[in-house]
Amino acid sequence: MSRIRFDLLSLFPEVFRPFVNASILRIAAEKQVAEYHLHDIRQYSRDKHKKVDDKPYGGGPGMVLRCEPVVSAYEDVQNMDERTGTAILLTPQGKTFQQETAKRLAREERITLLCGHYEGFDERIRDMLPLEEISIGDYVLSGGEAAAMVLIDAVVRLIPGVLGHEESTNNDSFSDGLLEYPQYTRPPEFRGLKVPDVLLSGNHKEIELWRRAQSEKRTYERRSDLWKDITQNRS
Ligand code: ADE
Repeated sequence: MSRIRFDLLSLFPEVFRPFVNASILRIAAEKQVAEYHLHDIRQYSRDKHKKVDDKPYGGGPGMVLRCEPVVSAYEDVQNMDERTGTAILLTPQGKTFQQETAKRLAREERITLLCGHYEGFDERIRDMLPLEEISIGDYVLSGGEAAAMVLIDAVVRLIPGVLGHEESTNNDSFSDGLLEYPQYTRPPEFRGLKVPDVLLSGNHKEIELWRRAQSEKRTYERRSDLWKDITQNRS
């Protein structure tokens, strides 16, 4: 069975603790298919005040993360395990994270995530380290931690054996380029709103057809961009 090691490098590693200790991430750790290692970049600062940032050369607002603690942290952490895996820098300048990215990363044996803060990183960190840059969307967060959590969650739930049913990820929105169909559970009627008859019919073929049609309708109505991709690929 595959097992992924996550190394999280951050100035605020403690924010990950409750996150990795709950829900699916915890289950993955208990099933021994994922492990999470938190590292404090500040520990790697050789500055006597453990300073990790400094003013930008050339002037301008804000502070910039210094090379030395980040590069030392990365190197030390990489040496903690013989697996190389892949290392990711969370930044709004990266390639946008997609379900396909999550699928690819779920096949890695090790993922190192580097989270920044302040106005940015000294550019030489990018020059020196083999980092894939990933953004979770076109907006700016105050740090990479929330973005790293998004990425970890999306990846861990795809590791075989983590969710109860392997099928549950096949039906997800985006897994086949479509949004997910509407779901219902008991009771069959709630405040006058009824579950569609077909779902109570027991006719699996009909249910499958209904779900497919609903997925397509939703995608067409809500995400014309996705719909265009699908119809173009078909022709
Ligand atoms: N850090 C700050 N904003 C971010 C974003 N949108 N995606 C990934 N990392 C970030």
